[in-house]
Amino acid sequence: MLFDTKPKTRRADLFDFEEEFSRLSRLINDSLTRLIVVRGLRRTGKTSLVLTTLNELGVPYVFIDVREVVRSRRGLYEVLSRALSDFLRRYSLRKALLNSIIKALSGVRGVRVHGVEVSLNWGRDRPLLTELFREFDGVSSSVGVGFVIVIDEAQRLGGSLGIEVWSAVLTPMIFSEILSS
Ligand SMILES: Nc1ncnc2c1ncn2[C@@H]1O[C@H](COP(=O)(O)OP(=O)(O)OP(=O)(O)O)[C@@H](O)[C@H]1O
Ligand SMILES: [Mg+2]
Repeated sequence: MLFDTKPKTRRADLFDFEEEFSRLSRLINDSLTRLIVVRGLRRTGKTSLVLTTLNELGVPYVFIDVREVVRSRRGLYEVLSRALSDFLRRYSLRKALLNSIIKALSGVRGVRVHGVEVSLNWGRDRPLLTELFREFDGVSSSVGVGFVIVIDEAQRLGGSLGIEVWSAVLTPMIFSEILSS
């Protein structure tokens, strides 16, 4: 699959990234790591490295691609709906995990789940990102599985939407640092 333009997702297809693969694997497995930033020049394999590592480790991840997004809140919530549906589809065979996530998401205001299709309202009754992340944290503790939230092309998230996303991601980390210090 050398000429496929899509990111690679399997180790057999990923070349020359042994060191980066090991480093990223160690960081993902380290429960103290809360935030990992992968940087590099364009088209050098960042997304391939991240997806391949997560797939090889078998760590459940939500992949939020903001490449096409997001000048509007509606756009952001559509991307999130797609990312969550994708997530449920990918783990549809892990029934315990799937059912816990579906149960948790269904209890959040402004979230509808039909089978593995998730649809988030984006208007006034939209779920806050902090609520969604909190549900993932809750399921993570109850089933004893860590989740990774990947924000691909995160540098594109600017303006007020960027603030909304970054504060949802970073605020719980800052609090956990304060509590543990
Ligand atoms: N180490 C690698 N082994 C195999 N294929 C690779 C490798 N690195 C990059 N590619 C291929 O190059 C292309 C770009 O890879 P990828 O999308 O992962 O890079 P990226 O750094 O995330 O790009 P962008 O800057 O556009 O986000 C894809 O076709 C991918 O399959
Ligand atoms: Mg990429």
